[in-house]
Amino acid sequence: MIITGKYPNLRLRRNRKTDWSRRLTQENTLSKNDLILPIFVIDGNKKKQKIKNMPGVYRYSIDNLSLILNKAIKYKIPMVAIFPYINQKLKNNLGSEALNKNNLVCKAIKYIKKRYKNKIGIMCDVALDPFTSHGHDGLIKNGEILNDETINILIKQALIQAEMGCDVIAPSDMMDGRIGQIRKALDKKNFKNVQILSYSAKYASSFYGPFREAVGSQTMLKGDKKTYQMDYRNKHEAIREVALDIKEGADMVMVKPGMPYLDVIKTIKENFKIPVIAYQVSGEYSLIMNGINKGIIDDRSIIESLSSFKRAGANAIITYFADRIVKKLI
Ligand code: PBG
Repeated sequence: MIITGKYPNLRLRRNRKTDWSRRLTQENTLSKNDLILPIFVIDGNKKKQKIKNMPGVYRYSIDNLSLILNKAIKYKIPMVAIFPYINQKLKNNLGSEALNKNNLVCKAIKYIKKRYKNKIGIMCDVALDPFTSHGHDGLIKNGEILNDETINILIKQALIQAEMGCDVIAPSDMMDGRIGQIRKALDKKNFKNVQILSYSAKYASSFYGPFREAVGSQTMLKGDKKTYQMDYRNKHEAIREVALDIKEGADMVMVKPGMPYLDVIKTIKENFKIPVIAYQVSGEYSLIMNGINKGIIDDRSIIESLSSFKRAGANAIITYFADRIVKKLI
């Protein structure tokens, strides 16, 4: 630690005394370029559907996607993340709808690519949970989530998304070895330039509740995800997960959830110097939004929470606040 003087000749408040001086000496900046906006899509026509526990967030039918995308593009948000609300009737044990080339995710990718070309990046989850009747991210047999068998399906899901024009494949399933297998398959099919953002350090968290309602998997989920998502007491394990994913070909890695895991973000950034994406998840959104709606806190708390990710070392943040906050950023 370098301290170059002491009170009274050293006064740290001097640099804070005016707005221009605070701007001049700031260590981090939050900008539009740091935001990734999640979008929920649903079948049907002209839908903009409220999500009970996520006030201000909606499910859009494809024909209404421009309502949110025009805004994202106008304000130069770099990327959106697509999450589908799948009709219960299309869900089964194997999650086979995930491999339907005409499913909701595929339709959304095609629509956005056709209309907006490369003005905005598209990221898609690779995992089975929106499509399975049990709500788990993988195949299940006698209560066990099968690793290798699941990967075989994830590979196909990733290839379909790439074929539709998805820019960034984001495996969120936490199966061992899936990044390498998906990278290999993508390369073999000549999708060499499709990026992989791995949900590397994804914790089994109780902050995902509102998201599961948003994609309609909450009531279906049997048990928890602790045999594949990480234990929130662990940090060294996150380093190992990230190290493996980088070796296997990940272009970017993610830490998820966000605010309770700032220490993990910092550790990963310091160790690997790779683009690190933080996910401010649905439960975090709901908490802050609840405070705002009750008048307990205001929108400045959003900027503060997002800035904490930058300070910890994140390159960008997936946040449901992206569209709400972007016009206030440079
Ligand atoms: C699916 C997935 C989840 C989230 C993103 N992708 C939920 C889960 O793993 O159960 C959570 C996002 C959020 O809570 O905002 N694999």
